Amino acid sequence: MSPRAKQPTVAVPPTAIGIDVGGTGVKAAVVDLLTGELASPRLRVKTPQPATPEAVVAAVGGIVDQLVADGHVASGMRAGAGLPGVVKAGRLMTAANIDRSWIEAPAEAMLTARLNRPVRLVNDADAAGLAEATFGAAKGVLGTVLLLTIGTGIGSALFIDGHLLDSTEFGHVTYRGKDAETLVSGAARERRGIGWKTWGREFSEYMALLERWFWPDLIILGGGVSKEYAKYAKYLSARAPIVTAQYLNTSGIVGAALAGAGVGIAAAVIAREGAPAPAAGGPDAGSGARAQAAQVAASLVIEDQPPR
Ligand code: BGC
Repeated sequence: MSPRAKQPTVAVPPTAIGIDVGGTGVKAAVVDLLTGELASPRLRVKTPQPATPEAVVAAVGGIVDQLVADGHVASGMRAGAGLPGVVKAGRLMTAANIDRSWIEAPAEAMLTARLNRPVRLVNDADAAGLAEATFGAAKGVLGTVLLLTIGTGIGSALFIDGHLLDSTEFGHVTYRGKDAETLVSGAARERRGIGWKTWGREFSEYMALLERWFWPDLIILGGGVSKEYAKYAKYLSARAPIVTAQYLNTSGIVGAALAGAGVGIAAAVIAREGAPAPAAGGPDAGSGARAQAAQVAASLVIEDQPPR
């Protein structure tokens, strides 16, 4: 394994809101940016269907309203939101596993207006990677680190000496003539009805493709399928060592909060994006959404409590 790099000391705002928009659930919590632990309960609602920007922004608004009402959110607290697509200048440019109306919708501005605070959009796998590189399995690891999140789709985050090369989309490389995630994501395994042995062998072939091009020094597996690692570990092979992500449930939230606050490794990504943070309190893109938020509150569940 690669040697460990020294962690720079940085001034970090103490907390930020992390939001994770997935295919089945929308989750949010306040995150302690110094420890990576949750500083509030993690709240979750089902992802609205169809998962249009308006409906998802309303769902996010409902959850964050609840966190505010419960006294977890300081005024001016920043927020970050992880979404499953390429993010450029505050908009999704792709939408493989979310409603296509997200493409080029002003998502960051809509969230900023609805939440009345600065919000940053980040790719969900990049968010997971930021959490692992800051606090988890990739913390301080030099060399090339590849994180693959395996769930509905396959997401990727690539780090070189602790720097994120954001918006890699390795779930969409061509494997056996198809978009890889349609064959070897967690959802694809279930849909195809293949066992862990076959899946493990195919996933290893897929990783071999990536290894041929990027030669990672460490591969981290995250996402829902990483929780079942014991069932398929023996069928996996790669040149690089493989480990599971340390954050199994909260990486998306923690990484999104880091991106929202623009601290640590996330700062470089945010700086390169170039655009200044959208001002809070702009036109209320979410006014219609506020009514829907009342419905959201009714279906809101507390997923877990922060550690004491
Ligand atoms: C998307 C990625 C995303 C991944 C995991 C893929 O289909 O293209 O952007 O990171 O799913 O959600």
